[in-house]
Amino acid sequence: MSIPTRGVGPTAAIIVAAGKGERLQDEVPKQYLDLGGRPVLSWSLRTFLTHTDIDVVVVVLAPEYAASPPAWLPAEVEVAAGGDTRAASVRAGLSLVDGSCQTVLVHDGARPFVTEGLISRVVQAATGPVIPVLPLSDTVKVVDSGGRVLESPPRETLFAAQTPQGFPLQDLLRAHSSLEDDATVTDDAVACERCGLSVATVPGDANNFKITTNEDLSRARWMVDAGLILARI
Ligand code: CTP
Ligand code: MG
Repeated sequence: MSIPTRGVGPTAAIIVAAGKGERLQDEVPKQYLDLGGRPVLSWSLRTFLTHTDIDVVVVVLAPEYAASPPAWLPAEVEVAAGGDTRAASVRAGLSLVDGSCQTVLVHDGARPFVTEGLISRVVQAATGPVIPVLPLSDTVKVVDSGGRVLESPPRETLFAAQTPQGFPLQDLLRAHSSLEDDATVTDDAVACERCGLSVATVPGDANNFKITTNEDLSRARWMVDAGLILARI
């Protein structure tokens, strides 16, 4: 009997941080804002850099930041210049991933509180595309452009997708090479779904929320100040 393994090649992590943070409405993109004395982006970077399952870390920055990376960026991180969409930024990161890598994780730089345990879960399950998910607690409605409820899909089938999402390198390359890139491609699982690849799930983590609005940033700062999150040195 063969035992499934995650393969023999190295594992790379691509952290995408080339967005503008328009919904947060600060002059500085959210990944560079302060969270407990250091930039939001540095939190997830440290967690990936110190994880024993991760061999290579690529960070994708907007071209102007990639041209002159911030001094606090650890030297061992490889820097790629991102694109106009998240998918274009992922492709820029992928271009720096060596073909010998077996597995690639893609993570939003706007999710500072990714845990070591979540990364391990995703790496272990990445024999095919895999994403962390959380069950929804609210009832979800489909609403039309006039604000009227069209339907209420059954809640048991609905989950919120998080990152890091894990993939065999060849699957992620295939998904992105055939992708018609538009605003609906908000994660890499969508790219896989569109090219017919089956996507598995593992349990996500409630603390691993994405900083999207000012309220999210306040919540993250409160969590750090209250000692709910242990900072990695
Ligand atoms: N991202 C990226 N390149 C882009 C767009 C997004 O690398 N062209 C990254 C963001 O930096 C973020 C992640 O993808 O870490 C998730 O995107 P999102 O939360 O939408 O961030 P922004 O696009 O920066 O925010 P907004 O949509 O509010 O402008
Ligand atoms: Mg965005």
